[in-house]
Amino acid sequence: MSEETKEQFCETKIRSYLKRNQMRNIYIYDEIESTNGLAKTKLREEAEGALILAESQTAGHGRMGRSFFSPRGDGLYMTMEIKPQIPAEESVFLTVIAALAVYDAIHHLYGIETQIKWVNDIYFHGKKLCGILVEGEFDAEGNIFRAALGIGVNLCAPKQGFPEEIRSKACALSEISRNKVSKNRFVAEIINGFEERMKRKGYRQQLSEYREKSCLIGKEVEVVSYVGAEPKKARVLSVDDTARLVISWENGETTALSSGDVSIILK
Ligand code: BTN
Repeated sequence: MSEETKEQFCETKIRSYLKRNQMRNIYIYDEIESTNGLAKTKLREEAEGALILAESQTAGHGRMGRSFFSPRGDGLYMTMEIKPQIPAEESVFLTVIAALAVYDAIHHLYGIETQIKWVNDIYFHGKKLCGILVEGEFDAEGNIFRAALGIGVNLCAPKQGFPEEIRSKACALSEISRNKVSKNRFVAEIINGFEERMKRKGYRQQLSEYREKSCLIGKEVEVVSYVGAEPKKARVLSVDDTARLVISWENGETTALSSGDVSIILK
């Protein structure tokens, strides 16, 4: 598809696909620093469900301070405001549920099976297609009462290719599916799926689906405990009932890792 004919975000189209089309505000930007950034600052007081979309981001970011490549028209960059009222220790389930919703939307619309790389990425054959970033605010009781749920998906490979540093690790939906999908429909499908999953009783029940779609369980990985730390070899055993990644180190000791702490390199 040429630059000229690339579909733009359109509020009317998105609303036509949304199942729960309540009075949510939808903000569409041609270019902003970061949809999550805006959700946490200028649009912080928005009601539940408000949606921020951008055709490009100049400072898209992911976990552990990494940048998220967000070129114009080639991706889906969205943030939804959510007001989940759940305890801090359960906030990881927002990422789990968002990952399942993205998985479902890709499966349904693009007809492909992807995999979830704990905790927040969607992969296809070892390459990253999508990243999810939930940034929450907590009240005095430790409940998460407001969160920016950000999702970035590579829709098309950029004409000049992905930047050198992610070229061997990233892929786009246009490279792996023949289906031509409206990105407005794709956005709505992700939101519909997320909201439907959030309404189900008990987040933990969804972990079995999450485990089935994991590309890490049973694999040798490298664990990086903080930015710049030396990677350490481990084997992934499972995802436990609190969504921690259970690994065994080379010396046989096992540890359950929380998502805030580490990044995992798939080998
Ligand atoms: C990651 O790779 O660790 C998560 C990437 C999340 C990227 C999305 S794009 C929309 C939203 N705005 C951001 O700045 N980040 C998220």
